[in-house]
Amino acid sequence: MKALVINGPNLNMLGIREPGIYGSDNYDRLVQICQEAGAAQGFDEVEVFQSNHEGSIVDKIQEAYGKVDGIVINPAAYTHTSVAILDALKAVALPAVEVHLSDVSAREPFRQISYAGMACVKTYMGLGFEGYRQAILYLKQYLEEANA
Ligand code: DQA
Repeated sequence: MKALVINGPNLNMLGIREPGIYGSDNYDRLVQICQEAGAAQGFDEVEVFQSNHEGSIVDKIQEAYGKVDGIVINPAAYTHTSVAILDALKAVALPAVEVHLSDVSAREPFRQISYAGMACVKTYMGLGFEGYRQAILYLKQYLEEANA
C-alpha cells in the first residue's frame, strides 16, 4: 500500500517560519516523522511531496491516480483559496485526510474556510507534527475497512 503526503506553500520553511505558531522543528524532521509513521502502519511506501505552486500540487494529485492508495494533505495557504486543489482531489477520488499544524479554527476569519477539506474524509488540526502521524494512522484504518 502506498500513501502520498502533500505539503503546500511555505511548509518547507518550518523551523524558521513563525515558530510560535508552527514550532521549531524543520521540514526534514516532518518528512522523517511521516515516513516513520507510514512504516509503523505497514505502508510499503510513503512519498512526501512539498510545493509552493498550486499547479504543481494539482499535477501531483492527478499523478497519484492509479498509483497511490490514499493522500494526506496540508495545502497550507491554498487550503483557503484553491478550488483547483479541491477539484483535483474530487477527480481522483482517493481517500484524503487533511492536516493543519495550527488550530486554524481559532485563527483569522480568512482561514475559516477549507476548500480541500470538502474532499477529505477527516481533518486533524492544532496537533503540530503529531497530526500527520494521526492522519497516516487514520488513513491506514480507513483503507483497511474499505478493502475488507
Ligand atoms: C496551515 C494553516 C494555514 O492557514 C497556513 O496558511 C499555513 C499552514 C497549518 O498547517 O497550520 O501555511 O495549513
